[in-house]
Amino acid sequence: MFARRIVVVGTGYVGLTTGACLASLGHRVVCSDVDAAKVARLSRGEVGILEPGLAELVAEGIAAGRLEFAVGSAGAVADAEVVFLCVPTPMGADGAADLAAVESVVSEVACALPSGCVLVCKSTVPVGTSARVAELVGRPDVPTVSNPEFLREGSAVHDFLNPDRIVVGSDSQDAAERVAALYARLGAPTVLTDAASAELVKYAANCFLATKLSYVNAVAELCERLGANISDVTEGMGYDRRIGQSFLQPGPGWGGSCLPKDTAAMMRVASSVGFEFELLGAAIDSNARQRERVVDKVADACGEGLRRSLEGVRLGLLGLTFKAGTDDLRDSPALAVAELLAARGAELVACDPGLCGDEPGLQGVVSLVDDPYEAAKGSAGLVVLTEWPQFRALEWPRVAGLLAGPVVVDTRNHLDPDMLRRAGITCHGAGRVAVG
Ligand code: UDX
Ligand code: UDX
Repeated sequence: MFARRIVVVGTGYVGLTTGACLASLGHRVVCSDVDAAKVARLSRGEVGILEPGLAELVAEGIAAGRLEFAVGSAGAVADAEVVFLCVPTPMGADGAADLAAVESVVSEVACALPSGCVLVCKSTVPVGTSARVAELVGRPDVPTVSNPEFLREGSAVHDFLNPDRIVVGSDSQDAAERVAALYARLGAPTVLTDAASAELVKYAANCFLATKLSYVNAVAELCERLGANISDVTEGMGYDRRIGQSFLQPGPGWGGSCLPKDTAAMMRVASSVGFEFELLGAAIDSNARQRERVVDKVADACGEGLRRSLEGVRLGLLGLTFKAGTDDLRDSPALAVAELLAARGAELVACDPGLCGDEPGLQGVVSLVDDPYEAAKGSAGLVVLTEWPQFRALEWPRVAGLLAGPVVVDTRNHLDPDMLRRAGITCHGAGRVAVG
């Protein structure tokens, strides 16, 4: 395999992971970003995001001279063979993906790209964007390619280096093959297709995952009403290889920087071509209701009086990030539940191993503490919202002694209910009868 000169534009978790991993595969990579302070920190090897293995790969890449950082993209792309766009495509007010960052980078680099350079869209973009980018660049000598990422936050490096598949789409076969070749050492199945299909793979996969989770959360609700146990039900379902065991864990709803925005964008894409994607709409609505259901469950378990009021009730929250292993609060279902609890008057003390200090956006909703025992102290109950392994290792008899009410609402079935029962705590899990 030949080492390639690659530029990655955007150093978020997607761009930085892509750049550092491509450097680890032997390529020469420049990661560029508009944020000069971030570039200065990254050049010193300071990685500001919590992503296992990423800081090590960045340090290795810098030390080996294969990874550099630059402010702005026009200068960086001058001798590039491949340029990856990894800038944000957030959800606009109408649910459609906002392509302003992609468009601004494309206009910036269009004239600077060397002839024959391949421009790759890695950002999640609506079907048709690759064609639109080609139009914006306006250079027949610069082919465009769609190469969606499937990186989960918290395991992005692992996912990059151990992909289930590589998807590359382009109207230029040669450009698609050149991009696919960058990953050759990974030995993953590779789908070479047209640009529109590659773009759709990403949305179709994320929307399927979101629908799977809404389905599981609905089955968990049914389990509670029928006296069944969701863990046994999903285990029994998951042995069917057509279903699989993964992505079957109930929770407070799905969130994060991708599933909510990609499902909303897919709804827009569908309606733009006159297709009402009712199934996906139902999965999105059901996810919004899931947060309400969690709040109702907390009120039933910890509320006061006949109406189970949460007004002035102190509650401890374990976890605020959208899942464990990340410091990301974007579209976090845990945070959404916290906001709903606060709106009902609860006083919230939260602990999250991924967060420290003053997190913007938390003021007025929760007070953040470093010590989970502090969150338990004097609380009418603890609500487990994110599956951090640290929570399993708590001394539960000590927690029981600190709680005003010996109750845990475990929205993710993360803790062992028998262990809590032995500590004198009643555990209300998801999709199973309360234990205690
Ligand atoms: C983002 C999108 O959320 C996702 O849809 C896409 O697939 C990849 O990019 P993420 O890496 O999490 O994911 O983005 P973010 O953490 O917001 O980082 C983006 C970086 O791009 C920032 O460092 C920002 O400074 C930089 N940027 C943004 C540019 O360099 N140029 C711009 O014009 C805009
Ligand atoms: C997702 C996709 O998995 C990834 O392929 C894509 O590239 C980006 O979007 P990510 O946003 O990092 O990755 O999170 P993911 O691990 O998929 O979890 C999404 C949400 O679903 C989280 O809120 C998580 O807690 C929830 N979830 C996941 C469950 O509730 N149960 C599960 O079994 C799995």
